[in-house]
Amino acid sequence: MQARSDLSRRQGRKIAFVPTMGFLHEGHLSLMKAGHKRADEVIVSIFVNPTQFGPGEDLEAYPRDFDRDCRLCEKEGVNIIFAPDAKELYPNGFQTYMTLEKLPHHLCGISRPSHFRGVATVVSKLFNIVKPHIAIFGEKDFQQLQVIRRMVKDMNFDVEIVGAPIVRETDGLAMSSRNTYLSPEQRVSALSLCKSLQKAKEMTASGVTDATKIIDATIKLIRNYPETAIDYVAVCDPETLDDMKIIDKPAVMALAVKVGKTRLIDNMMLAERV
Ligand code: PAJ
Repeated sequence: MQARSDLSRRQGRKIAFVPTMGFLHEGHLSLMKAGHKRADEVIVSIFVNPTQFGPGEDLEAYPRDFDRDCRLCEKEGVNIIFAPDAKELYPNGFQTYMTLEKLPHHLCGISRPSHFRGVATVVSKLFNIVKPHIAIFGEKDFQQLQVIRRMVKDMNFDVEIVGAPIVRETDGLAMSSRNTYLSPEQRVSALSLCKSLQKAKEMTASGVTDATKIIDATIKLIRNYPETAIDYVAVCDPETLDDMKIIDKPAVMALAVKVGKTRLIDNMMLAERV
């Protein structure tokens, strides 16, 4: 992969990289489209990264369909699919990890304490292997995007990070490979995430600035749906992810909710400019 990227670079071709864990959907495909707009070739990685799953999480159950993924990539005009296996990326003796001091102690990092260490580590490795000029990440995983931006800045990675908007189903549910776990009833409850975010945004637009008030309304709305268990609902600074009490500057609402056994996340900017 490195030799192939070296060749492209020598030929003056700009490389866009889209890291994924496969089981591709329109959200992933939108990142590939964004890549084509900005670069000469698009490289997609498909790798279910074991180091970002905690004990008892869904590493084994994570949905996989490599052949279908290949067909979708081909349709999107992807130039290369990089699909290593776990032993190649983590051979015996592997012991070097990338950790951030502050960002992982918010939001998803609280209930998934080793998750962002795994993400930052694998993304660093993939950047060194794929050698892209730009890499595209979805805003769906808002904290992940901020972690990667911070890591790239802190470690002087020579890669431009591009964030791409959340792609949603027509009823508003944010697309996710994990949506396949949902039963038809749970699929209805899953709408509580985007519906409550929309309501929070409307409250902010109508002049409510007290974050607690907005969070309480969000929690209430989600609890009305069966089989939901809230992990967190937060209103925070989009860059530091620090909690905000008063919405007097750009703010994002981020939430994680278990619907049955499936953990779903979503987020929305409440105020872009105040
Ligand atoms: P995965 O969950 O497969 O997501 C790959 C990329 O697709 C991420 O940047 C994610 O934010 C983006 N994405 C997922 N759903 C989206 C949606 N509905 N709209 C827009 N973008 C969406 O995120 C990972 O894999 C992994 O943590 C990875 C970065 C590959 C490291 O292992």
